[in-house]
Amino acid sequence: MEKIIVTGALGQIGSELVGKLRSMYGEENVLATDIRKVSEQAGPFEILDVTDAQRMHDLAKDFNADTMIHMAALLSATAEKNPLFAWNLNMGGLMNALEVSRELNLQFFTPSSIGAFGPSTPKDNTPQDTLQRPTTMYGVNKVAGELLCDYYHTRFGLDTRGVRFPGLISYVTPPGGGTTDYAVDIYYKAITEGTYTSYIAEGTYMDMMYMPDALQAIIDLMEADGSKLIHRNAFNISAMSFEPSQIAAEIQKHIPHFTMNYDVDPMRQAIANSWPNAIDSSAAVKEWNFNAKFDLSSMTIDMLDKLMKKLNSKAIS
Ligand code: SER
Repeated sequence: MEKIIVTGALGQIGSELVGKLRSMYGEENVLATDIRKVSEQAGPFEILDVTDAQRMHDLAKDFNADTMIHMAALLSATAEKNPLFAWNLNMGGLMNALEVSRELNLQFFTPSSIGAFGPSTPKDNTPQDTLQRPTTMYGVNKVAGELLCDYYHTRFGLDTRGVRFPGLISYVTPPGGGTTDYAVDIYYKAITEGTYTSYIAEGTYMDMMYMPDALQAIIDLMEADGSKLIHRNAFNISAMSFEPSQIAAEIQKHIPHFTMNYDVDPMRQAIANSWPNAIDSSAAVKEWNFNAKFDLSSMTIDMLDKLMKKLNSKAIS
């Protein structure tokens, strides 16, 4: 990676990834793009609607990019509310990004998700290669995306790479419209209100990861020796698996008066129920040394510390 174009650069992952890439590869070597612009944007930035293939091509070409990191997409709950729009954005954007990468011979990364699995997938220690019959539009997009990335590699020799991210937790950019987002919101509410109402039911396990590990995973996979990659796309990666009462108990160790109630949202609960409890990341470990540093305990300490500074607040005691 030397000249990198990032789509969805203002999103949950993109907004932190761009900063990390710029610190490693040089500010002028990372072109951030998104459908909107925020006022004080540092570094190279261009407006890009990923459904506009010509503009995507022109921006990548003019920037002399050698790498495309395609992040622009709707998350699971938003996609479920507007499936046709999700199809057009998630699949249209991905096809354009793959085509531009083929035309300009760019190394390519796009994330898949635990959402690429469905109710018939083995729920525990979910294998790298297994049944994938998702029941959400987001999942349909992710499976199709995984297959397209494999297709572009085998058919055109494009250097496509990707991971199946679990729920990502960060104190920087709030996620929008995901099913795993409760595990982000809970930290904000613990600090600002001392209580949280979970829309996910007690006992619902899902895979999760702290954002610094997710960003490092993208870079490690992109920098890995391609000849050692057997899967290339859609590597299972996870750092931890927990259910709501476990993250609440972890927060209570630091904010003893924190309480949690449940008001289950049927749509997001149905999505969560269709996903694995805990996936097996061993292929990623074996093929490119995937390694997550944060577990629930160390992530909680860091999240609360950083969020308290950000929100300029003390824990409610
Ligand atoms: N965090 C995502 C979501 O909940 C999963 O990929 O939609």
